[in-house]
This record gives sequence, structure tokens and C-alpha cells, in this order.
Amino acid sequence: MNKTASLHLCCHRGSEKPGIFSRLGTGLMAFVVVSACWALSVQAGDGGISQKDMEALAGARDIYHASCAMCHGYDGVPIVSGVPNFAKGERLDKPDKELLSTIAQGREAMPPWAKVLSQGEQTAVLAYIRVLDGDGLFQEYCESCHDLTMPALDEAIPKSREKLNNYAGPWELCSGSELEQIMQRDDLITLIHFLREIPEPAMKGEAQGIQE
Ligand code: HEC
Ligand code: HEC
Repeated sequence: MNKTASLHLCCHRGSEKPGIFSRLGTGLMAFVVVSACWALSVQAGDGGISQKDMEALAGARDIYHASCAMCHGYDGVPIVSGVPNFAKGERLDKPDKELLSTIAQGREAMPPWAKVLSQGEQTAVLAYIRVLDGDGLFQEYCESCHDLTMPALDEAIPKSREKLNNYAGPWELCSGSELEQIMQRDDLITLIHFLREIPEPAMKGEAQGIQE
């Protein structure tokens, strides 16, 4: 059973066709539904990326595309002069608190966002800017197969940034593709940082002024 099918069983039971399932017997059916839901929740709670995390990412990306990309560029490379280059991480070494205050109040040619976006949306869009380069790689290499959820990374891949930066492999990122063999090492590291940031509360607009 693929993931879309198990998700369908869990979340859209109202749309089941009784004719198909009555033949299975109610007891077996209950078992199938329970184990499908159990498998999904284990996956999400196990260091993987849940559907909720993916939706939060898409929400933050949408805000960025609608309100920020016309100056800052879809990929973070500025379209307007005088705008920092987020693809290179320019100005993003400042603490969240400071950047959130600039986003809310505006600065030079940048308009204030306090009356346009909620505080949660401002937090989420800032979290998104910080992983913008990773999101580009994710969309290019992974999203075609992992658009709903993503299983946890292999235990062998280091957790701390310092160890990850020094890690020589083997990557064994995805048993379903050979991509990690052909991707540049820097891109792999950027992508792994990204995958670990998506489940963070800030991406869902649930944290303000962290990293003070
Ligand atoms: C009209 C163009 C424009 C739009 C739209 C825009 N920005 Fe900016 N942004 C700028 C400019 C120009 C700067 C540099 C300001 C300066 O000179 O310090 C900037 C700077 C920034 C900075 C760095 C602030 C600092 O302290 O150095 C952040 C973060 C930022 N923008 C986030 C956003 C976000 C988030 C959005 C969308 C909600 C957005 N911007 C929309 C023009 C824009
Ligand atoms: C051609 C489809 C495809 C692409 C593209 C793809 N994957 Fe996968 N991936 C799979 C399949 C199939 C599995 C195994 C089944 C499962 O658990 O979802 C998997 C499993 C995984 C796992 C769980 C560990 C494992 O090895 O089973 C991780 C982590 C993962 N992929 C990450 C990625 C990342 C990161 C990318 C982008 C660089 C990516 N995948 C691209 C299909 C794909």
C-alpha cells in the first residue's frame, strides 16, 4: 500500500465505497485502518517530516512569493538594487528578534509588514528566508516523490552542524533514488540543514524572537 492510499484511509473515510470494503469484513478493515494510521504517526514522530510540517513550509513559501519575492527574488537573488541577497545569506546572521522588528517596521525602501502579515506569518516567512536555498534544492531534487511527508534521515548522518560540515559520507540519504550520489556535497549539506529546520516551530509561525 502506498502512502497516498494509507492517508486516504485515515483521513477521508467518509468517501469510502462500502461495496469494496464490506467484502473485506469489518474486523479486518478496522485492523487495516488502525495500522495505516499507526504507521503514519510513527513516521511523523520519529524525526521525519509530517504532512503538517510540509503544509507549514508551503504556507511560508506562499507568503514569501506573494509579499517578498518581487524585490528579494523567488530564489533569494535580489531583483531590485539595494536589496540584500538571501541566497548568499546576506544580513541573515543578525538575530531573529532584530530581523523580525525590521520586517514589522520596514527599512529604507522596504515597506512595513506589521499591518499586512500577522506576527505568526512574519515569524514563518523569516524562518523560510533562512532555508530558502535548501527549499530550492528540495523542490528540484526531492519534491516529485516526497511532497506529502518525508521519512527520517539515516542515523549515520551527523546531527550537529559542525560534524555535518566535516562529514565525508557515505550519505545514504534516500534508498528510493541515487540523487545523493550525483549531488554536490555543499548542496547535500544545505539540503540536510533544510530538512531539519522544516519541523521547527518557527516555520509554523509558533515562535517569536528565538535565537536572541
Ligand atoms: C519593495 C521591495 C521589498 C519588498 C516587497 C520586501 N523587501 Fe525586504 N528589503 C528591501 C530592501 C530595499 C532592503 C534593504 C533595506 C536597507 O537598506 O537596509 C530589505 C531588507 C530586508 C531584510 C534585512 C533587514 C536587515 O536588518 O538588514 C529582511 C530580513 C527582509 N528585507 C525581509 C523581507 C520580507 C520577509 C519581505 C516580505 C514579507 C520583504 N522583505 C519584502 C526591499 C523589499
Ligand atoms: C524517484 C523518487 C524519489 C526521489 C526523487 C527522492 N526519493 Fe527519497 N525515497 C523514495 C522512496 C521510494 C523511498 C523509500 C520508501 C519510503 O520510505 O518513502 C525513499 C526514502 C527516503 C528516505 C528514508 C530513508 C531511506 O533511505 O529509505 C529519506 C530520508 C529520503 N528518501 C530522502 C530523500 C531526499 C532528501 C531526496 C532529494 C534529494 C529524495 N529522497 C528524493 C523516493 C524518492
